[in-house]
Amino acid sequence: MKVVVTGGAGFIGSHFIKYLLKRYPDYKVLNIDKLTYAGNLENLKEVEKNPNYKFLKADICDNVIEDAVDGCDVIINFAAESHVDRSIQEPETFLKTDVMGTFNLLEISRKKGVQRYIQISTDEVYGSADKDYAFSEESPLNPSSPYSASKASADLLVLSYYKTYKTPVIIIRSTNNYGPNQYPEKFIPLFITNAIEDKPLPLYGDGKNVRDWLFVLDNCRAIDTILHKGEIGIIYNVAGGQEKENIFIARKILEYLDKPESLIKFVPDRPGHDRRYSISCERIKDLGWKPEVSFEEGLRITVEWYKNNEMWWKKIKSGEFLEYYRRQYKL
Ligand code: NAD
Ligand code: TYD
Repeated sequence: MKVVVTGGAGFIGSHFIKYLLKRYPDYKVLNIDKLTYAGNLENLKEVEKNPNYKFLKADICDNVIEDAVDGCDVIINFAAESHVDRSIQEPETFLKTDVMGTFNLLEISRKKGVQRYIQISTDEVYGSADKDYAFSEESPLNPSSPYSASKASADLLVLSYYKTYKTPVIIIRSTNNYGPNQYPEKFIPLFITNAIEDKPLPLYGDGKNVRDWLFVLDNCRAIDTILHKGEIGIIYNVAGGQEKENIFIARKILEYLDKPESLIKFVPDRPGHDRRYSISCERIKDLGWKPEVSFEEGLRITVEWYKNNEMWWKKIKSGEFLEYYRRQYKL
């Protein structure tokens, strides 16, 4: 199988490429990535010499990628601007990449007759869930941030291509991922790396917002399951099934690193901050998938990885990110 992965130098995409090449040694993977601030080829060091892996530095909005995807069977679109706080400050790039980039890939898929177009979406398109309620794939879209609105817009476009052109699409909406190699602007790696450096952990609002955490390798297994067994035209939710309040996670990180709770600093809430995300995922469970990594185990693995890979994240935090971080939190 010849698979085009877009955004493969980012967090989830790079894990998925490594997973796919290991699990299916005869598959060929072309990674198309623009290498924005979030793209990092160091994430792919272990496969860069694999003859079945190729990399193309390109923007998914650009027509030049049309020739590159020639002859591919599947396109899996991970490429996106993915951080909510950045979308609040600079929404335009989110519309360009998340909406227009998806549009460009759908057009290419239609022209080239690819066998599967898989859109990597998010549970955030459903918006905030009331206590004890979980959204299904049929629930209405109700996004809150420019990020989730751009992902919801892309999902609607993807579905329209199925209805109008019979483009063979599938949408995957997963809960929050965590694990090694996640850019340290996101909650878990930001808190781990700040704690290692004895810096404050900026907890938004009352710290009681809830996310459902999915270890990144469990997500790779879910995407693999859907790639091989998923039905065309269908949306699949993928839930970690491990809902936690942010303050619980902040405390666990400090406990694992043997750091004091006084590092937690309550800061003003994020505008439009969704209180809780929760989804059901019976469809993918019917295909035989379930998460295998408990939150405790996944968090320990993640904390250990950041402890042992300071070079990876210190480079990031000392450069462009530091400026952004200073502006954002004035800490
Ligand atoms: P990430 O920010 O770590 O990586 C995004 C990658 O896309 C980077 O390598 C970046 O260089 C690339 N990219 C950005 N704009 C591009 C463009 N115009 N053309 C080509 N490449 C471009 O993101 P992630 O956390 O790995 O998320 C991957 C996908 O999964 C996204 O679509 C995101 O919406 C979705 N998702 C993420 C989570 C999560 O918790 N991280 C949860 C659910 C869904
Ligand atoms: P984040 O990793 O940005 O993912 P998302 O908002 O897309 O779910 O944030 C996860 C949760 O952590 C969310 O409720 C916001 C909160 N958070 C903080 O409290 N402080 C922070 O510095 C960040 C980045 C997030």
